[in-house]
Amino acid sequence: MIDSNTVLKLENDRLIRPRHIIGVDDFELEQIDQLFKLADDYKLKVQNKVDCRGDINPIDPAISFFEEPSTRTRFSFEMAAKRLGLAVLTTEAGKVFSSKAKGESIEDTAINLSGYSPSVVIGRFEHSGEARRAADQMGEVPLINGGDGKGEHPTQALLDAYTVQSILGSVGGQRYVLGGDLLNGRTVHSLVELSSRYEDNQYVFVSPEELKMPEEITDELKNKNIEFEHTTDVEEALNWADVVYWTRLQAERITNRNEKLEMIKKQKRFAIGLKQISSMKEHGILLHPLPRVMPGFVDSAGDTLEAEILPEVDNDSRARYFEQSQNGMYTRMALLRWALEPMYGHTGKYPPKN
Ligand code: CP
Repeated sequence: MIDSNTVLKLENDRLIRPRHIIGVDDFELEQIDQLFKLADDYKLKVQNKVDCRGDINPIDPAISFFEEPSTRTRFSFEMAAKRLGLAVLTTEAGKVFSSKAKGESIEDTAINLSGYSPSVVIGRFEHSGEARRAADQMGEVPLINGGDGKGEHPTQALLDAYTVQSILGSVGGQRYVLGGDLLNGRTVHSLVELSSRYEDNQYVFVSPEELKMPEEITDELKNKNIEFEHTTDVEEALNWADVVYWTRLQAERITNRNEKLEMIKKQKRFAIGLKQISSMKEHGILLHPLPRVMPGFVDSAGDTLEAEILPEVDNDSRARYFEQSQNGMYTRMALLRWALEPMYGHTGKYPPKN
């Protein structure tokens, strides 16, 4: 959603860039195409050890404020920022180590952080909607949503779509199978919202009844006349798919312990091992936003969780989730460059693409 109060208009830019990146709707498809081209360039530059500092001229440090645990989003963003020459101030476990632990609101946190004039704030928030609430208080400082509760994870959706395009040639024209915890997982919501804007996609959702894709997402598909169905038949769905996108049970979001134990039990039949992956098409790809749960993992409540993708499939040529994770850094370099260029300009050695 592009709001005239929260945009920057660039000379030479055909499209308005959103100031904040809160959800996948903040982008036009043409802009995503530009971003993906930039990500391709950054992939090459990083692989060839090209120094990218100076592609933008950031005067102000970036703030990376993560209330919830993160390995990929936080480190890929911070690597991306440092590769572009930004200093980064960071907190993980912001719920505990920031003054939110003393009762401060997300609005007050945002006013204070933006008051120090960082170049950008990258945030992961505990509750859905907090990214928007924070952005509304940040004036000219851009906010990038690194995931808000059960809400959105737009930069994950971008890197997922970038991975599909890189490997299969196009985000559109694909058969998508999304499986696992489709109720509580924000990455699946954002990926369906983004990919369904491309033409000729079809969807199959694989989950226990209690963890089905929410109606607000499927209603949007209905409104766009896009075909989808729900199933519990993993192998049949995998056999049909071009893109399989599997997710873990978000056990930490299920507050009732009996329900959680019930879901763990049900989830066991949705695990992908050698038998299941062998039913995929040769050209099919298996993605996962990660982290995945390792077999035998015991969580902080003492409950043993079930694995959703077994390590035995890692060497199958269709398993592309580690490549997907690496793509996160290239995509986020492109995003930071794109978000900050209007404020800091560019050096000329890497002119904006028209
Ligand atoms: N995919 C993802 O968001 O991973 P992290 O939680 O490790 O950032």
